[in-house]
Amino acid sequence: MRSFKNIGIIGAGSMGIGIAQIASTADCSVLLFDQNKAASIQAIKKLEKVLLRLIEKGKIKPSKKDSILSNIKIVENLDSMKDADLIIEAIVENSNIKKEIFSNIESIVGDDCVLATNTSSISITSLASCLKNPNRFIGIHFFNPAPIMPLVEIIPALQTTNNLVREIHQLLITWNKKPVVAKDTPGFIVNRIARPFYSEALRIYEEQIADFATIDFAMKQIGGFKMGPFELMDFIGNDVNYAVTESVFKAFYYDPRYKPSFTQKQYSDAGWHGRKSNKGYYDYVDNIAPNSPSKDEKLLVEIFERIIAMLINEAVDALYLGIANEEDIELAMTKGVNYPKGLINWGREKSFSWVVDKIDSLYEIYHEDRYRCSPLLRKKVTK
Ligand SMILES: NC(=O)c1ccc[n+]([C@@H]2O[C@H](COP(=O)([O-])OP(=O)(O)OC[C@H]3O[C@@H](n4cnc5c(N)ncnc54)[C@H](O)[C@@H]3O)[C@@H](O)[C@H]2O)c1
Repeated sequence: MRSFKNIGIIGAGSMGIGIAQIASTADCSVLLFDQNKAASIQAIKKLEKVLLRLIEKGKIKPSKKDSILSNIKIVENLDSMKDADLIIEAIVENSNIKKEIFSNIESIVGDDCVLATNTSSISITSLASCLKNPNRFIGIHFFNPAPIMPLVEIIPALQTTNNLVREIHQLLITWNKKPVVAKDTPGFIVNRIARPFYSEALRIYEEQIADFATIDFAMKQIGGFKMGPFELMDFIGNDVNYAVTESVFKAFYYDPRYKPSFTQKQYSDAGWHGRKSNKGYYDYVDNIAPNSPSKDEKLLVEIFERIIAMLINEAVDALYLGIANEEDIELAMTKGVNYPKGLINWGREKSFSWVVDKIDSLYEIYHEDRYRCSPLLRKKVTK
């Protein structure tokens, strides 16, 4: 098995510096490049603060902080990465800019150097196509904050050699991560399966069935989720969450199942992005208390059951379409977005026939393709 000791990171934003921290903690030498040198310097300063907090909490020794920092070197050009074993790109989410940087870096590094992207939404296969040797290209998708979230999705391009998936899987285990393997399709695993958590909640709100606080309360109280959908969208940022939804919708050739919501678009357009702008679905200035949620048990159950049935249907459909195996789908949702249980197992617990009935009854009401039941879910019932 080849060793990856010299790691190049391109982009020193929140993801780039997080990945640099992970690799340097695992004793790799890290070269960090950003087109804006001030961003790299700023990122190292932030990392120093993070490490000091870890010392205060007793999680690392001061000597570990020193070694983590000394393992990372800021470089001023890509030529300095010529001896890298693995390069992970975490720059702006723009396909053309990413392709330009990869064709550039390919002419600098050795033939054995693996090239990887941390993209959340761009096709790995399409990025690989800009290379002379696309076999060495792979998606390594970390979650934010990268040092804390255990899940990493490995996404081979159509062109990627089989061995590389195994090698990156092994590397990520030594980096203390929980890797899963995903097919190169829109949203990979997590950003595909999680869509109904947001979209069905928004739909319930738009149909005036319940307000934000009640929907959030239902998902936490009955479902055991740590955050409700609206709290989570405010945390992620409505602009970011809307952009992901829109890009997944387009990438699925406008499949109604992934249709974005006007409400979220308007919140995003208004600049009501959530916590970072002090206003989203909730107000974060002056600690204004949100409306109290309804305690109507029947309503809370109705909200939870509608959203969980849609999530289970999406997870089973991802299994049906071979996006990932069952174990990885379950791991992805529990370790990538902290769901209280794996969704397929949740379906088993509630019974697959209950899920089919729930989705079919939604279809009966709306006659929209959005509420189509996965063929695998029906098969599981007849088994
Ligand atoms: N933020 C998240 O939650 C998250 C999660 C998973 C994956 N991602 C993906 O990771 C990537 C980076 O996201 P981020 O949130 O860290 O972005 P960011 O905006 O925080 O940082 C991007 C950095 O890249 C630099 N940059 C831009 N163009 C460059 C170029 N041509 N060469 C060198 N440096 C360049 C910028 O100066 C900036 O410092 C994106 O592809 C994003 O989709 C983000």
